[in-house]
Amino acid sequence: MQDFDYYNPTHIVFGQDRLAELDKLIPENAKVMVLYGGGSVKRFGTLEKVTKQLGDRQVIEFGGIEANPEFDTLMKAVAVAKAEQVDFLLAVGGGSVMDGTKFISLAATIDSDHSSLLFHGFNPVPLSSAIPLGCIATLPATGSEMNSFGVVTFNEQKYPFTTPLVFPKFSLLDANFTFTLPKEQIANGVADAFIHVIEQYLTYPVNAKIQDRFSEGILKTLIEDGIVTYQDNDNVEARKNFIWSATSALNGLIGMGVPQDWSTHMIGHELTASFGIAHGRTLAIILPSLLRERKAHKQAKLVQFAERVWDIDEGSDDEKIDLAINKTEQFFNSLDIVTSLSHYGIDDSGIDKVVNNMEKMGLTQLSESGDLTLDVVRKILVAAK
Ligand code: NZQ
Ligand code: ZN
Repeated sequence: MQDFDYYNPTHIVFGQDRLAELDKLIPENAKVMVLYGGGSVKRFGTLEKVTKQLGDRQVIEFGGIEANPEFDTLMKAVAVAKAEQVDFLLAVGGGSVMDGTKFISLAATIDSDHSSLLFHGFNPVPLSSAIPLGCIATLPATGSEMNSFGVVTFNEQKYPFTTPLVFPKFSLLDANFTFTLPKEQIANGVADAFIHVIEQYLTYPVNAKIQDRFSEGILKTLIEDGIVTYQDNDNVEARKNFIWSATSALNGLIGMGVPQDWSTHMIGHELTASFGIAHGRTLAIILPSLLRERKAHKQAKLVQFAERVWDIDEGSDDEKIDLAINKTEQFFNSLDIVTSLSHYGIDDSGIDKVVNNMEKMGLTQLSESGDLTLDVVRKILVAAK
């Protein structure tokens, strides 16, 4: 296992019927800016319930943060946050609203060069302060509710950013706010969480037993309870396990001291930027082809994945790997996610576009070993046709 530092200050308030505790989580005299998305929280009454719990605090609402949040929209919120001198941001929504709020919390502390906050990749944004933020998560998927990452769309490209300053002070994970999710969003969330684990787990062994076993536990839980949640909207126990799986998949813990490979995400982000396909879905399209292409690089971990996650104990190593990848793809298909690019209208010219964009973004040496170059990206995309 490699050396690591683990830091995660987010207070998680998990379960059901816990909204009344919001009052204790936000400073009494705070001027609160409540941020939300395209309207689901208004339509389903969540926003009204939330603002009621804020009591006598001054509240400013900002809605309209779109899926894959746009820099220009977020800058409108920054202007309001500055003009109103708000001192707490409350995100009510999915990953897009939470990520957007994280960006606003940083951008509202500076007067110029806001877009440059997006150009540091996975190095910390060089700022020293941010407006504190909290989240009421309505979509289990990204893990944004308990991590220090965000992704913002700028000039039709997706840019990740990170700094410990944007760890939420708290996140309320209340199952009650997730029952209104359309089925396809549950499917996207299960796929996203599953692949967050895969990107930290499926590289090469470094004898990180805790991280491996946590990862395998999350994957198995998603296979069991992700499907149940998808099929049965009323099963609260399965839903709670799905919610906590999604948060645990990307709160940093399973990624400590292990090599990571975020190639599927990097390719997936381009599919969203160029073709508007939902984030989780892009990953499910890419992952099976990527694993087939990278079988030799990931052999030991793929055998472990086959044996411990899919309980495959017969056949040669190669047979186990092939079966595990097929089962993974079937798992996505059982969530009604079609895993071929042609289904989404993407042909050879679409593949060219993705590869060219990745070149422009400098995404030319991906994977745990840095040797997943653009010609390999192309092979993966062609195999996913
Ligand atoms: O906008 P509204 O009207 O609220 O509707 C949203 C949106 O259309 C809807 N929704 C959310 N909660 C709902 C609901 N509808 C009914 N009932 C509810 N309870 O769902 C739609 C999708 O929401 P969005 O927030 O875009 O989805 P998700 O949570 O999957 O977030 C995706 C974004 O997160 C980024 C992605 O790149 C993408 O921009 N990611 C962030 C990460 C992070 N911060 O660590 C890591 C991820 O890998 C990912 O890249
Ligand atoms: Zn993701």
